[in-house]
Amino acid sequence: MTIGAAPGEIAERILLPGDPLRAKWIAENFLTEVRQFNAIRAMYGFTGLYNGERISVMGTGMGAPSISLYLHELFMDYQVQIAIRIGTCGAIQDEVNVGDLILPMTASTDSGINRRTTGGLDFAPHADFTLLAKAQSLSTKVPVHVGGVASMDMFYDSTDSTERLREHGVLALEMETSALYSLAARKKRRALSILTVTDHLNRDEQMSALAREETLTDMVELSLHTISVTE
Ligand code: HPA
Repeated sequence: MTIGAAPGEIAERILLPGDPLRAKWIAENFLTEVRQFNAIRAMYGFTGLYNGERISVMGTGMGAPSISLYLHELFMDYQVQIAIRIGTCGAIQDEVNVGDLILPMTASTDSGINRRTTGGLDFAPHADFTLLAKAQSLSTKVPVHVGGVASMDMFYDSTDSTERLREHGVLALEMETSALYSLAARKKRRALSILTVTDHLNRDEQMSALAREETLTDMVELSLHTISVTE
């Protein structure tokens, strides 16, 4: 066990930022009646109330192995039913801009976890449609793109894989959504990623620190709204 929570301490609905300090910031600024349920490996997790709904928020770390490990325990040991990842990504299409939001319908990957689990078959993991449609209908502040992303094992990737993904219309790169959607499919749970574009890999652009904070607030509000109103 890598999560030290007692049974019942984690809500059925959870927000999953990569950074555990972001989880703490969300709990402190958006939830009431907050209780911390995990501090092992500083992967902080909290449960509180948002508009009367019980919601948890916990860091996942970076990459497929880290998020898979935490998700497995959240799904199997704590009966989490709905998980929304909130994270950042690097755009690879010209029509996507820094500061936009991406709601991934599906996530390609170069991680070996999918194929090992399916015995070599290329499973195409997808978002929960109800969550995705809800998030899209509630997001009004910045342009939103719905499409494919790729969850890659290497952040610093000097191969030509980005070019090939671009040719397939993939909107952006990040590192966790494929693992989230795949595990949710296997465990019959519902999942969505909500991603802010913080980098543009074609144009070598990055979001400023101030803009990151502002869009983070928008993304957190959208994810909390989505997770709390979805039936
Ligand atoms: N890859 C490339 N750029 C990024 C990523 C990533 O995983 N996340 C944020 N910008």
